[in-house]
Amino acid sequence: MRIACFASGSGSNVEAIFEAIEDGRMSARCVLLVCDRPGAPVIERAVRRGCDVFVFAAKEYPDKEAFEREIVAELERRGVERIILAGYMRLIGQVLLEAYQGRIVNIHPSLLPSFPGKDAIAQAFHAGVKITGVTIHVVDEGMDTGPIIAQESVRLDNDMTHEELQKAIQRVEHELYPRVIEEWIKEGANV
Ligand code: GRF
Repeated sequence: MRIACFASGSGSNVEAIFEAIEDGRMSARCVLLVCDRPGAPVIERAVRRGCDVFVFAAKEYPDKEAFEREIVAELERRGVERIILAGYMRLIGQVLLEAYQGRIVNIHPSLLPSFPGKDAIAQAFHAGVKITGVTIHVVDEGMDTGPIIAQESVRLDNDMTHEELQKAIQRVEHELYPRVIEEWIKEGANV
């Protein structure tokens, strides 16, 4: 199975996926990183792993349709079958959704439908919830709204700081995402 990862930032989840592929926990092969932020640290991570990278700046295109058409061409050229969003800070548009209907997955750092959108960890922290977590879902046209594939909870200890919560969420993400992607690819079913 040939996959592509989409990311905008640090790329610690992309790194976790590369590691899982390397040590045989995932049978997929990541053949392309798509990144919308020239200079983002995730680019270097992909280059170090010998993964092709497509970096673009949205402002250089007339609209979303234009850059998504180019992305789809890059994906199809490499025979990409599934798309893994890992901190890609853009809504997926019609061009990508039509080309990869039901074959795009995303990870979000809260228990959806609570705290969708940006800064989900901070949102949960400031709301004072006692349990938050991580959600993996299939992508549709909404913001963090597609069918949920898997969730794992993270409990907030009494004097946990925001940074500690962030670390706890990341630990869960890095273990959960590769495992769930592997199941999703193999079974195409809920896990
Ligand atoms: C993760 O928390 C993920 O859930 C969210 O964006 C963050 C990306 O972090 N969608 P990283 O770039 O993988 O470190």
